[in-house]
Amino acid sequence: MIEIKPQIFWTGKIDWDIKFFHGHEFSTQEGTSYNSYLIKDELNVLVDTVWYPYKEEFKKNLENEIAGLDAIIVNHMEPDHGGSLEIIMDVRPDLPIYCTKNGADIIKAHFHKDWDFRIVKTGDELKTGKYTLKFVEMQMIHWPDSMMTYVDGAKLLLSNDAFGQHFAPGGLFDDVNDIDVVMREAIKYYVNILTPLSGIIKKKLEQVLALSLDIDMIAPSHGVLWRSNVGAIIEKYQQWVEGVGDGSVCVIFETMYDSTRQMAEAIASGLQEEGVKYKMFNVATTDRSDLLTEIFKSSGVIIGSCTVLNAALRETTSLLDDMKMLKFKPKFAGAFGSYGWSGESAKLIFEKLQGMGMNVVGEPYRVKFRPDETAIAELVEYGIGFAKGLK
Ligand code: FEO
Repeated sequence: MIEIKPQIFWTGKIDWDIKFFHGHEFSTQEGTSYNSYLIKDELNVLVDTVWYPYKEEFKKNLENEIAGLDAIIVNHMEPDHGGSLEIIMDVRPDLPIYCTKNGADIIKAHFHKDWDFRIVKTGDELKTGKYTLKFVEMQMIHWPDSMMTYVDGAKLLLSNDAFGQHFAPGGLFDDVNDIDVVMREAIKYYVNILTPLSGIIKKKLEQVLALSLDIDMIAPSHGVLWRSNVGAIIEKYQQWVEGVGDGSVCVIFETMYDSTRQMAEAIASGLQEEGVKYKMFNVATTDRSDLLTEIFKSSGVIIGSCTVLNAALRETTSLLDDMKMLKFKPKFAGAFGSYGWSGESAKLIFEKLQGMGMNVVGEPYRVKFRPDETAIAELVEYGIGFAKGLK
């Protein structure tokens, strides 16, 4: 247990080893942490638990505390936070569980136990002694049950998944870690988990800021605790909910025999000629979570694949599905690809980009087998035109 505020302790688990999250959906090269907190006041209150593979360790760390607990708060029942609830409740089935109505439904659906649920709404409070816990519902940020808990008297916001990062901290706080890496992981987390919910998050941010809570520490459920960059991470969220690009372009290709790569490089040289910053990625060899983050940050995206069996290659198709699912704000977009005979891929990419509301420019650019000098020159011009349009 590590004291983060007077009588408030971090009781979580740092997971250095995890490399994928949500099954195999989300890469976590920097690991993660499952942050749980214990408030030792006149009432002793545990806030959230840890992922269930670590439940025995979690229980052992709390072995001197469980008997004295007065309540548990479940801000969110996803198993990375609620997964070790049962091992505590097995010892103390009498403990009241404070959670949202949706939280109670989801806890019951996980554990099938009729525990003492105390349903809370935004504005409800639990006085623990010197501190008062104030609950703020965060429905669909990112589950129906989500809420955050503000510890009045400690200037502490226990924000659950909001402001989190999949990052295994070497020390608990933002200022004892490489802040560039922390921020990189914070945006990656936002993009891959929260982007489709940006509208809801924007309203919730405005609502929480309007409460004028005195906050000098934000303690999320993953990654570092923010104490030196509280304003900075809130500002980042205010930017990210808007989904505005940074003026750069992602050129993304997938290839069988290099023709589509040559096309991508020609387009990129046109962007470069116009002074537009770009990054190029082979979708088949680039980490998907990182690639989606780069697309989110950019203002333009140009995607190419050769045609196989009347379609685009599978990683390109899958990327387009991911982009649609994440509901990125409109960006400048384009499509290209080589082909041998039927040649559907560029048009399919073009249509999928249109279908997700992207501002798709020009026509899908296709090359039969290998680009010749004329095609390369046209692709450079395509890049120049795209850059001019973007600017
Ligand atoms: Fe980190 Fe939504 O659980």
